[in-house]
Amino acid sequence: MKLDDIILDILTKRSSTIFTNREVLRPDYVPDYLPHREEQIKELTNILAPLLNGERPSNVFIYGLTGTGKTAVTKYVIRKVNEYANKLKGVTFIYTYINCRHEDTTYRVLRRLASSLNIRIPFTGLSTAEVFSRVVKAIENIGKVVVVVLDEVDFLVKKQGDDLLYRLTRVNDELAKGKVSVIGITNDVRFMERLDPRVKSSLGEVEMVFPPYDAIQLSDILRERAKLAFREGVIKEGVIEYCASIAAKEHGDARRALDLLRVAGEIAEREGASEVTVEHVKKAREELERDMVIDVIKTMPYHGKIILLALALNNGRIESTGELYIKYREICRKVALEPVTQRRISDLISELDMLGIINARIVNRGRYGKTRQVTLTVSPQTVLKALSGDLRLEEFIKKYWNR
Ligand SMILES: Nc1ncnc2c1ncn2[C@@H]1O[C@H](COP(=O)(O)OP(=O)(O)OP(=O)(O)O)[C@@H](O)[C@H]1O
Ligand SMILES: [Mg+2]
Repeated sequence: MKLDDIILDILTKRSSTIFTNREVLRPDYVPDYLPHREEQIKELTNILAPLLNGERPSNVFIYGLTGTGKTAVTKYVIRKVNEYANKLKGVTFIYTYINCRHEDTTYRVLRRLASSLNIRIPFTGLSTAEVFSRVVKAIENIGKVVVVVLDEVDFLVKKQGDDLLYRLTRVNDELAKGKVSVIGITNDVRFMERLDPRVKSSLGEVEMVFPPYDAIQLSDILRERAKLAFREGVIKEGVIEYCASIAAKEHGDARRALDLLRVAGEIAEREGASEVTVEHVKKAREELERDMVIDVIKTMPYHGKIILLALALNNGRIESTGELYIKYREICRKVALEPVTQRRISDLISELDMLGIINARIVNRGRYGKTRQVTLTVSPQTVLKALSGDLRLEEFIKKYWNR
């Protein structure tokens, strides 16, 4: 937990008029009841049931759009199966959850796996082949079934290929004692297509698809969570349904719905309100969208950032691409950066347009021909805020902002 969160937590526990338990709205919290996932929970429990006899379950591949409960259901079912296994004498299995967005190299994944087998692997220095063979040896020594959950596995495969998946799904051939089961999870539709057919068939021994939630299902999910998180009666009528309807339009993402509710609560609290209203949700939506835009801008190519900066310093609008190019060059000069060609800037403008951060509208200027009028779709303040984290631009912005 970050220090900010801890302090916020202490503060709210002491005095919040809105929350009783903010913790349960955190993205990694796994609730005890997951409405509208009964079927998936049952299916996954059936698949993992052999663990209770000390046997190896099939490998599972889980696919579904973002926020459809893949991670939550997997963690929930494994937790339950583990509880039962602990009650049965002598039956235990080893379970590792690895998020491949964070552990995105073969080496790091193996290192995590090794640590759950109680063997230490240095940060660097060994070949992956060596680490792999140590892991295999450890599994053999322990002689139990090892369940490896590779969540957001597309990040690993994009970066390092599917070699590790291939080896993990084949390792049982090498093992005399002990067995490995792999649960792979992704929200990337094209992930399976990229896999080697042999990996595809062994990882996908069983495949599960998580459908998106509709607005009614999202309302049920939010209502259950709100009971745990908020004081009784502070959520005004219609608030939950409103959050649910926004998230349902955006691919039925439960994370999005929960974020809206949480931020709406935080805004209500900041304002010293005694209730969370639809107005708070509207503000929450704006705040979340602003944060998202800021993230996108931060990861943008440098010259794209300068285009946005030029627009921001001109009240968000420049009448032609020629004029924009002149302003762009001016900034380049001031921050001592070699400008790229007008052609390249023109491409960047199209890219920014596609991302929805700017709007480039073609206008006909009579005998001067056609040009594009470029407008920011977000406020200049948002752009300046996002860019002021950039060391090279920070000073420049300080000098020219508020003038
Ligand atoms: N049926 C449900 N009941 C209660 N909470 C749910 C349910 N489904 C999802 N959630 C909650 O919504 C959030 C997103 O779910 P989860 O993290 O499982 O999504 P995901 O499918 O793994 O998405 P991603 O592909 O982005 O990783 C989590 O906070 C989770 O607790
Ligand atoms: Mg997930």
